[in-house]
Amino acid sequence: MDGHGDGGGQHDSQRYSRRRGCHETSLQCLRLDTFALQQLISFFFVSAPSAKAAQSFVAMPGLTIGDTVPNLELDSTHGKIRIHDFVGDTYVILFSHPGDFTPVCTTELAAMAGYAKEFDKRGVKLLGISCDDVQSHKDWIKDIEAYKPGNRVTYPIMADPSREAIKQLNMVDPDEKDSNGGHLPSRALHIVGPDKKVKLSFLYPSCVGRNMDEVVRAVDALQTAAKHAVATPVNWKPGERVVIPPGVSDDEAKEKFPQGFDTADLPSGKGYLRFTKVG
Ligand code: BEZ
Repeated sequence: MDGHGDGGGQHDSQRYSRRRGCHETSLQCLRLDTFALQQLISFFFVSAPSAKAAQSFVAMPGLTIGDTVPNLELDSTHGKIRIHDFVGDTYVILFSHPGDFTPVCTTELAAMAGYAKEFDKRGVKLLGISCDDVQSHKDWIKDIEAYKPGNRVTYPIMADPSREAIKQLNMVDPDEKDSNGGHLPSRALHIVGPDKKVKLSFLYPSCVGRNMDEVVRAVDALQTAAKHAVATPVNWKPGERVVIPPGVSDDEAKEKFPQGFDTADLPSGKGYLRFTKVG
């Protein structure tokens, strides 16, 4: 886990030369990807369903909601980190980025640093990871902090040069490879609860930067749902009405929510959309 695999420490644009970025046309992508070429051949010369079956070869291991995050130990910019010890009894945002010294990642990690106070207020710790080595992360942090003066990167960034951790954390982008053909991380983000279980995940490709307001909103929604045993409706923000989950009967809801609740009057008459306010 702590060894130096392919690509570790490189941070020049060459490194990404074989990548299949979202900005490329599909034909450009196919030229670079033999697997995709096989799919194309299958599609035209065998049948579309066969091509679909071939896609199953790229199945990734799937850490998902409700799973316990693997208790990996990795080097980081803050020394060795064992994930469960780091989580302790708090929430943690564990997030990956495709590579150091890349443009979108620089904007994301600078923004993460700027939002650190917001996460801290909510009892949430930040933990980054990518395949570059610790020295590369440390060098890159100088760029990140210069890009957004005042945003100090106080959170640790773990190093996974062997790519074993990103596989176990379901953070591999099957479409992104470094110049040696090694896997690279997607923009994955797991919100891990104090019980070490994944509560919510984001999975973005390299070409789409994440929205930090949405990460904060997701934390607020998760913590509100956990505290009050409710669910949050579309575009919910703190202070707005929440919904009563379907498993709660009206009689139970009267007990659990003495403040009362409103039931939306819908054609089915099933009474399943019930709003209430929580503190
Ligand atoms: C970026 O962070 O800008 C980036 C990283 C990998 C591939 C494409 C873009």
